[in-house]
Amino acid sequence: MKRLSLDKILQSQGFGSRKWCGELIESGDVTVAGQVVTDKKAMFSTENLSFTLYDEPWQYREHIYLALHKPANFECSRKPSHHPGVLTLLPEPFRARDVQPVGRLDHDTTGLLLMSDDGAFIHTQSSPKYHVPKVYIATTADPITPELIAHLLAGVTLHDDPVPCAAVRCEMRDSNELEIVLEQGKYHQVKRMLAAAGNHCAQLRRVQIGGLTLESLGLAQGEWCYLDAADLTLLVAV
Ligand code: URA
Repeated sequence: MKRLSLDKILQSQGFGSRKWCGELIESGDVTVAGQVVTDKKAMFSTENLSFTLYDEPWQYREHIYLALHKPANFECSRKPSHHPGVLTLLPEPFRARDVQPVGRLDHDTTGLLLMSDDGAFIHTQSSPKYHVPKVYIATTADPITPELIAHLLAGVTLHDDPVPCAAVRCEMRDSNELEIVLEQGKYHQVKRMLAAAGNHCAQLRRVQIGGLTLESLGLAQGEWCYLDAADLTLLVAV
């Protein structure tokens, strides 16, 4: 728990420079516990602190942890080149807080994407050392065969990596639909593994990370939500 002046609190939450946040407070645009506060140096405990800015409610958060249902045609890179970036789907203060995607999904991949401004969390979640399984549903161009599944489970060699890449689980869901579970997050990994095994990935969706499912979050494409402590405990090796 910290005690901070209101201008510093607003700045830490991504609402602009300390000077700008001070001006917002002095203009009467900020309330705390239902009261307008015009003293920018008024001190508040950050624990369970909620406030409003322009009547919109916000909760103080030291870090933010989000899940986004990524739609197709959005890029995860910091400097998107051909499509809008996923950060454009979030409120502006989150961008000011430097929220970043945890790993990347290709522009045409849809599904569960974690985002945060907590560098340690991003590092842990992205590291192959932590073996957090990620579940993908791939629609394939050619019918799925038992040989394809056996190949993906045994491991395929990708051009840039002498160590074979294996799925930790792989199941056929339909003639052209495969559930594939990976613990690494290499560039275009599912697509490249399918290509190396002689098929082609026509569509890809990530539906689960660790024990956290996209379905349980109930997000439509393009929607995001905060992850609470219970959600975060699911993001581990299962
Ligand atoms: N594997 C891919 O090929 N693409 C993604 O977006 C994610 C995993």
